[in-house]
Amino acid sequence: MLFPGIPLLLFFASLEQVRAKYESRLESIKRIDGDTETLFEFNLRVIGRDNLANGSMNFLADLSDEFEVSTLLYVLQRGEWRSSNIGVCYKSCTYIAIIYATYFAPSFKDSNFPIDKESCPIKKGEYYVRNADLSGATWANFGKTGLNKCIITIRKDDVVFGGLEVVVVLTEQRF
Ligand SMILES: *[C@@H]1O[C@H](CO)[C@@H](O)[C@H](O)[C@H]1NC(C)=O
Repeated sequence: MLFPGIPLLLFFASLEQVRAKYESRLESIKRIDGDTETLFEFNLRVIGRDNLANGSMNFLADLSDEFEVSTLLYVLQRGEWRSSNIGVCYKSCTYIAIIYATYFAPSFKDSNFPIDKESCPIKKGEYYVRNADLSGATWANFGKTGLNKCIITIRKDDVVFGGLEVVVVLTEQRF
């Protein structure tokens, strides 16, 4: 189920209360190829003892409002990935302004990828990301203890043009 804008804002408004609950660790990142062609390539991998995201993103087209970005969260339960019923889908510029700029961009400390919420469209080109600590990515707090998978796809008319699958492990935070 994809939530439109208002319920989403309510979700994020209540986020502060749950933020302290989990510690998250990045487990893996995999690129998702397009259905017929991949215009947005995410060549990222997890490196080092701190499980940081590193690599490059190669955009073969401008990421403009022609495209939508969808994010869906899955939780591993009894060996199966189940939809958590949490997901958002926005046109690219809205996604960048609301979701990306707030929840992902702060992790991109060493990157030439635009982090400004007004950076839209994102021009085609190759962007690097070095040692991004996604463990603080607050979307993880929507998950449950254990393995959680976030599937981000860039699409147009229900055709996927690239994306990435990010798996994090959430553990209860000890006080
Ligand atoms: C990290 O990413 C940068 C930028 O893409 C790349 O130059 C470097 O080789 C990568 N390091 C590792 C260990 O993969």
